[in-house]
Amino acid sequence: MNYTRTILTSLALTSSVIASAQQLTLHIDQAQKDVSPTLYGMMTEEINYSYEGGLYGQLLRNATFREDKHGRRPNPWTPWKSGGAKYWTATDTTRSVLTLTQKGGYSRALPACLNWKAQAGSSLANDGYWGIAVRPGEHYKGYLIARATQGGPLTVSLQSTDGKTTYASTQVSGLSAQWQKVSFEMDIPATGKTTVSPTKDVRFVLTAPVGGNYDFSKVVLFPRTFNDRPNGLRPDLMRMMTKMSPKFLRFPGGNYVEGNDFHNRFDWKRTVGSPDERPGHWSPWGYWSTDGLGLPEFLTWAEDCGAEPILAVFAGYVLKGDYLPADYCGPFIQDALDEIEYCIGSADTKWGAQRVRDGHPEPYPLHYVEIGNEDFFDESESYAGRYKAFYEAIKARYPQLQLIATAGQKQIEQWARETGVTGLKFDVIDEHYYRNTKGMYQSVNLYDGYDRKGPKIFCGEWASREGKPTTNMNAALGDAAWMTGMERNADLLIGHCYAPLFVNVNPGGMQWESDLIGYDALKAYGSPSYYAQCMFASNVGNKIVPVEAKDIPQMDYQGSSLPQLYFSATTSTTDGQTYLKIVNGGTTPQTITIHTIGGKPAKKGLLTVLHANKPDETNSINEPTHIVPQSSKVKTGSNFKLTVKPYSVNVIKM
Ligand code: AHR
Repeated sequence: MNYTRTILTSLALTSSVIASAQQLTLHIDQAQKDVSPTLYGMMTEEINYSYEGGLYGQLLRNATFREDKHGRRPNPWTPWKSGGAKYWTATDTTRSVLTLTQKGGYSRALPACLNWKAQAGSSLANDGYWGIAVRPGEHYKGYLIARATQGGPLTVSLQSTDGKTTYASTQVSGLSAQWQKVSFEMDIPATGKTTVSPTKDVRFVLTAPVGGNYDFSKVVLFPRTFNDRPNGLRPDLMRMMTKMSPKFLRFPGGNYVEGNDFHNRFDWKRTVGSPDERPGHWSPWGYWSTDGLGLPEFLTWAEDCGAEPILAVFAGYVLKGDYLPADYCGPFIQDALDEIEYCIGSADTKWGAQRVRDGHPEPYPLHYVEIGNEDFFDESESYAGRYKAFYEAIKARYPQLQLIATAGQKQIEQWARETGVTGLKFDVIDEHYYRNTKGMYQSVNLYDGYDRKGPKIFCGEWASREGKPTTNMNAALGDAAWMTGMERNADLLIGHCYAPLFVNVNPGGMQWESDLIGYDALKAYGSPSYYAQCMFASNVGNKIVPVEAKDIPQMDYQGSSLPQLYFSATTSTTDGQTYLKIVNGGTTPQTITIHTIGGKPAKKGLLTVLHANKPDETNSINEPTHIVPQSSKVKTGSNFKLTVKPYSVNVIKM
């Protein structure tokens, strides 16, 4: 592929001069290098209300009463001072007294206790995560972990936020002075006079018809979930991810695997078993995670999307900069080994048996384990030792696994020299690239020159960061150009994944600008970048096709002369399909002559185009499909012409 790069970078002609001369020759006959079978995947962590208020089906905010209106205690030895339960309100404060304590609750995992002294007819409401979705035919299941020292049954309902309309309601009875879990179900009729138009202007309400004295440690509400899994995930988001044809899911982070401090790392053993036995923790992105979406749910999420897990294990370093040197990391190494055992151990192992109890008898198809996250930030230089200790322990027990380092090889080797660590081995290096579109255009040849004898590369986080909360068409162009570079080097890269995947678009929902999929309580939409991902990932062969380029036009882009077109091709040795991707980042249409050498060229192909009239056009929660791909049949063969629109991402399947 060096000739392509030479031609791309050596021409400085304007597009109008050479518009008809440009040619791409696809050497299908020379397609020898393998495309990694896990090239396209997804990356996730608890950021931007990705799970709480996002993918995790549970609808009530502060369901376990761990978030206090007074704010977060700066440290564990600061005495608790309660300002009341965040997101829970008495609808009539003169008739209710609410008191929150962080002890005396149901269990060690659910220590909080919200006491409600209610006069007859008073109510307690929760607005969910910026509303609660009500749709025709929806079915809700929920439960309270509660007790009542006085009073009768409670009414549970879904009401409009002004309280004037009740969409669904039911009675919960049987509460006693002992803590217990009491379940309820509610329906929205699918048809008929009593059904509703879809809305999120809804709140969850507990009403005490005869008054009483109640304690709550947890209150939850689920709508239908994907594949009807208990404690499951939001169906529309799962369907959107399935369309990305992901081959892997990298989890649980990102910063989320590290946490701000040791106590708030992703401590996976506190995220398995019954959701009611999970204590939860603070996400480094500033809000409480119940860990209802924990390790078992990450794994079934991957499985339900047709993806394999890429598991990141905590490696002794937290975001505050604290770390434990390798010699002290033994318990964390054991946690990592146990976590792997949970994923792939047989039913007669301790943690394999826990997976079976959690509902998944079969081991998961785990091939890659990542040691930490972004340890290139670790100024202590302890990563060389920590990496080696984790690497050797995991390899000794699971030699079949490929291990991913989270700092560059040279950097780790430099730290090793400085800290006296020897004998390092590398399988795969994780690299992260967050750039603007220009930066992505300038990076498309990055991997062409990487040493094929060195470790493999995993591009575990990347994005063209233009547009918020979700990215715009210009970002999609930068993404697609960058993906052509990764596809051309799909023998070197084991895989890559965009980050972040999700954002709740409500004010306060976003901690990181430039995200792939946006949503509120009711609706979800894909950014142009999302559609570029879908187009690339669902049109890829198993061999890289060398592409010879001639007379590719340059464009003047933000003060630099850059190629206007970016391209890559792959072919499938199983069904003979060839996939050509062309990105036009410029303001002019381009007509390209395409030659194919080898293969059996068909006369017609399928062209899928993502295009906008202006680069800053985008999709949004109110205009979700402004930019979506369009497909049409086109003439192909061994020699044909194709005109690509300005600002367009094009995939030709032929
Ligand atoms: O994707 C957002 C953050 O970017 C991730 O948590 C972290 O790994 C990176 O710095």
